[in-house]
Amino acid sequence: MKLSRRGFIGALGLGTAAGVLSGSTLISRPSYAQTREAAMSKVYDGGIMQLNQNESARGPGPRVLEAIREHATKRVGRGYSPDHVNELRDALADYYAVGNDNVLLATGSTPLLEGAVYAFCSSDRPLVTAVPTYSTSAQTARRIGIPVKEIQVDAGMGIDLAGMAAASKGAGLVYLCNPNNPTGTVHSPAAVERFVRQVLAQSPDTHILIDEAYINYVADGLMETALPLAKEFPNVFISRSFSKAHGLAGMRVGYALGQEQTLDTINGAWGMGDVNMLAAVAAVTAFEDHEHIAWEREENARVRAFTTSVFTELGYEVPPSQTNHLFVNIRMPAAKFREACMAEKISVGRDFPPMHNSHCRISLGSMEEMELAAGVFRRVLTG
Ligand SMILES: Cc1ncc(COP(=O)(O)O)c(C=O)c1O
Repeated sequence: MKLSRRGFIGALGLGTAAGVLSGSTLISRPSYAQTREAAMSKVYDGGIMQLNQNESARGPGPRVLEAIREHATKRVGRGYSPDHVNELRDALADYYAVGNDNVLLATGSTPLLEGAVYAFCSSDRPLVTAVPTYSTSAQTARRIGIPVKEIQVDAGMGIDLAGMAAASKGAGLVYLCNPNNPTGTVHSPAAVERFVRQVLAQSPDTHILIDEAYINYVADGLMETALPLAKEFPNVFISRSFSKAHGLAGMRVGYALGQEQTLDTINGAWGMGDVNMLAAVAAVTAFEDHEHIAWEREENARVRAFTTSVFTELGYEVPPSQTNHLFVNIRMPAAKFREACMAEKISVGRDFPPMHNSHCRISLGSMEEMELAAGVFRRVLTG
């Protein structure tokens, strides 16, 4: 049976489409993308509240929107090479006090995660990752027949760093998501440093990717970037995304920080795509708007505290989150909770095995959305 793309998505159903279609992010989430016609109506996502993906509920700040408008000129007809991309790379390099060759830009951080698997893993050099964690690395590895060693998170929902280190001997790549998606938990600089030194002492050829997509949401003093470790060790590198606190998921910009030969190897193994001029100008404006990011972080923390209290007051456990999502122990299968919430036009997170029978990831929307959602969660959980 031949299905058009729309037919295919329809056949899969809203909840499963994102999980089933893998590969580039742009094609992996078509069910949530909307047409120009729908955008004109200002009713987004068919009126369904999107608490199922960890994008920013508030989008980019006003300076970024203004920069996009200002740069939407006839100049977009020129693009070889696109304006502002070098400017973005320079701004990142300056801020982190590294050379331009220590920054690898990509169309979202997804190609970096995929590329790292292609670059460093093989049939006898497995990927080591936590479970549950962000799954692009493991999905990529499975797609190309690379063995994956999954280490379950500990009882407090933190990543089992000792278990991961022990499993890393002979691995091609270790993926560490800090803070972790979906659990929201965070590891201190001392713990990450201990982990990195332990892995490299016993397995010097292993590479370690530290995904810091959610770093802007972490409260002061709980974590630091692992950049000093990337500067010290050629095998350590970091990925970052403009899709979260900077509110630019639809623009597709991410980057890696690491040593030149490491980034060259990733870039040589897999296409990073070309960051386009409007995305670059949006990203550089967002990156430099520290005031807005500080506000975004505060606002997210306020929404997070409110939403956490909704669940804890109902007697449900929520691991402390340093991100823009909660991994709630709802004590029922996520699928059942998801279905009940969807009946009230709220879409919550997909299954995260092996915890899909007890936990559900809920992305944080705006305060107004979460106040509405709180009523639905109360009804669904208290029956
Ligand atoms: C931990 C983590 N890393 C990377 C990504 C990929 O984001 P992007 O490709 O938009 O940068 C996501 C997206 O949800 C994520 O949660």
